Amino acid sequence: MPTVRFLPTFLTAEPIEIEVEPGITLQEAAEEAGVPMGDACGGNCACSTCHVHVVAGFDSLEEMEDEEDDILGKAEDVQFVSRLGCQAEVGDEDLTVRITRESQVAFINEHPEHRGREGEIDV
Ligand code: FES
Repeated sequence: MPTVRFLPTFLTAEPIEIEVEPGITLQEAAEEAGVPMGDACGGNCACSTCHVHVVAGFDSLEEMEDEEDDILGKAEDVQFVSRLGCQAEVGDEDLTVRITRESQVAFINEHPEHRGREGEIDV
């Protein structure tokens, strides 16, 4: 099974790795791993709060659909390795994923118990 390695976030100083079944989304993997990824629209490709940078293994992902591309166009800090976590499915290869500042801020907004921790986001 492929491993998804999530780089540190405001919640953890160390990376978190999780083995997953191919075909699950990065958002599902993050949730399973307890990694803070925003999901304001509930994974319906209608916001950009699940924006991530796939810093290793990007080419193993299926190409994005036009809908995802359109939404990503509204995101902050878009890079050539950007994807929406709710749309990108894990393939057969290991991935390394950075949760963007935008996504971590969205997670904080969705989880009031973490309010005020925006200053701890280091991306
Ligand atoms: S959660 Fe809204 S686009 Fe992914």
